[in-house]
Amino acid sequence: MQRIGILSSGGDSPGMNAAIRALVRKAIYHGREVIGIKRGFAGFIDADMGPMNLGSVADIIHRGGTILLTARSEEFETTGGRKKASKNVDRFGIEGLVVIGGDGSFTGAHVFHEEYGLPVIGIPGTIDNDIAGTDYTIGFDTAINTVVEAINKIRDTATSHERTFIVEVMGRNSGAIALTAGLAGGAESILIPEINTNIQEVCDKLNQGYERGKLHSVIIVAEGAASGIDVGNEIKKHTGLDTKVTILGHLQRGGDPTAFDRNLASMMGSKAIDLLISGKTKSMVGMINGDVIDIDLDNSFEDKKPLNLELHNLAGILSI
Ligand code: F6P
Repeated sequence: MQRIGILSSGGDSPGMNAAIRALVRKAIYHGREVIGIKRGFAGFIDADMGPMNLGSVADIIHRGGTILLTARSEEFETTGGRKKASKNVDRFGIEGLVVIGGDGSFTGAHVFHEEYGLPVIGIPGTIDNDIAGTDYTIGFDTAINTVVEAINKIRDTATSHERTFIVEVMGRNSGAIALTAGLAGGAESILIPEINTNIQEVCDKLNQGYERGKLHSVIIVAEGAASGIDVGNEIKKHTGLDTKVTILGHLQRGGDPTAFDRNLASMMGSKAIDLLISGKTKSMVGMINGDVIDIDLDNSFEDKKPLNLELHNLAGILSI
C-alpha cells in the first residue's frame, strides 16, 4: 500500500479538515503518498485529484468545512459512474481509499469495494451523529455547541419579550442534535423524528409553565420531526401565545471545530492510515467509550444507531 486516495463526501462537518491533516501527515510519516480527491465521489469520477504534501494541510486544523470540497454524487450511484472512477484508480495508482462522510458515502464506498476490490476505510464525519459503530461523529460536538450558543441568545430575547420560541435544528433522519443541544440548553420541549410529535402535549406543558409563572419557553424541533414554522403556527393556534420561529439551518454545519472534534478527527485520521497499512480492506473507524476502534464498514450503514431516549425523558423532567 503505497498510494492512498482521500476524499470528503456528503454534508460537510467541522473537523473534516483536521481529519484530512491527520491522514496526510500520518501517511507521509509512514513513507506513503497521498492523493487528494476533490468534491467527493464527483472528483473521483472526473479525475479532479492530485498529490498532497505536508504543506497542503498547513493551517487547517482550526477551520470548518473541508479543503477537499464535498458533494453528493448521483453519478457514483450508477455502475457507469463507478466504472469511470475505477479507471482513475488505475491512472493515479491509488491502492487504498479513505472516505470521510456519512452513511450514504459509506454505502457508495462499500459498493465500489465490492465491484473493484479497492480497500476502503470510512471516517464518520457528519453533524448528525447518526452512524452506528461510533459514539461520536466528527462535527457533532461543534454543531451542538453552536446550537446551545444560539439557544442562549434566543433565551435572552425570549425572556425580555415573554415569548415562546421554536428553534428548528438540523437532523433530517436523526434527533441527536435536537436532543443533546435541547437538554444542554434547558429546552421546555424537544421534538425529534424518533418520537411521534404530540402538539397537544407540548401546548399543555407550555400552559402549565406559564400558569406557574414562567416568562418564556424554548422548544427545539429537529427538521426530521416537523417544520418549525408549522409547529409555531399550531402552538399559536392552540394557545394564543406570542410565538416566534428561528431556523438555524446551515450555520450549524460551519464554524471552527471544538477541541473535541479536532482531537477526534486527528485520532480517527491516524487510525485510518494504520488500518490501510495493516491490510484492512473494508472498515470504519469509530470511537467507543473513549477508545478509537474499527468495525466492518457494512455495520456502519446496515445497523441503526439507537438514540438514548432516556435523555428525552430527563430533558422533560428537568425543564418542567
Ligand atoms: O447530514 C447532514 C445534514 O446537515 C442534515 O442534518 C441535514 O438534514 C442535511 O445535511 C442538509 O443537507 P443539504 O446541505 O444538502 O441541504
